Amino acid sequence: MDRILCLLVLTAGVLAAQEPGPRARAAVQELGQKIRSLLAAELASGGFEGAVGVCAEKAQAETKRYAAEQGIQIRRVSTRARNVANRPDEWERSRLLEWESALREGKSAPENAQTTTASGDYRLLVPIRVQAMCLTCHGNEKQIPARVGDLLHKHYPEDAAKGYRNGDLRGAFSVVIPRGR
Ligand code: HEC
Repeated sequence: MDRILCLLVLTAGVLAAQEPGPRARAAVQELGQKIRSLLAAELASGGFEGAVGVCAEKAQAETKRYAAEQGIQIRRVSTRARNVANRPDEWERSRLLEWESALREGKSAPENAQTTTASGDYRLLVPIRVQAMCLTCHGNEKQIPARVGDLLHKHYPEDAAKGYRNGDLRGAFSVVIPRGR
């Protein structure tokens, strides 16, 4: 009896793990955690200038490595991207604009958006909000130290990710789980 119960629980667990929704949400949590700890470690050792390098190279590298390992697509996107590689596609952009106007009207943005594409891929978009600690690199000119500003400008001549305020929508994690994965 115990064995059967155990088997049932295990089967339920495996089935749940294969559902694209929970899988995509877990991926967002896991990658979010990794990027946050990379940033925190770098802030602790090298200050903000070192951390610019983290976001610049390690965030992209870690994101690509994680996606390949999981056999999914995952990235960060924004309507005001710092890195042009993080510009949203049409579906991402429409959702982000809807969330931005909801927040402007004082409504709360939904927890996420999901869809299944015509070819059967599952897509999930999870909002990323600005916190106080983000303003050193995403705030206004007074909040970004001059040397950090110079570094950002050097790495990202087309940077649109400044001038945010605490609580703003900064962008989103975007996940695609290909059909049958
Ligand atoms: C030390 C500077 C620094 C701090 C602090 C920082 N960021 Fe960034 N952020 C960057 C850089 C540099 C990039 C470009 C990364 C890349 O090349 O993909 C970036 C990119 C992003 C992106 C991807 C979209 C885009 O604009 O390219 C998001 C989303 C983001 N940051 C959110 C945050 C949030 C939320 C916080 C606070 C919790 C934060 N960042 C704190 C420097 C920083």
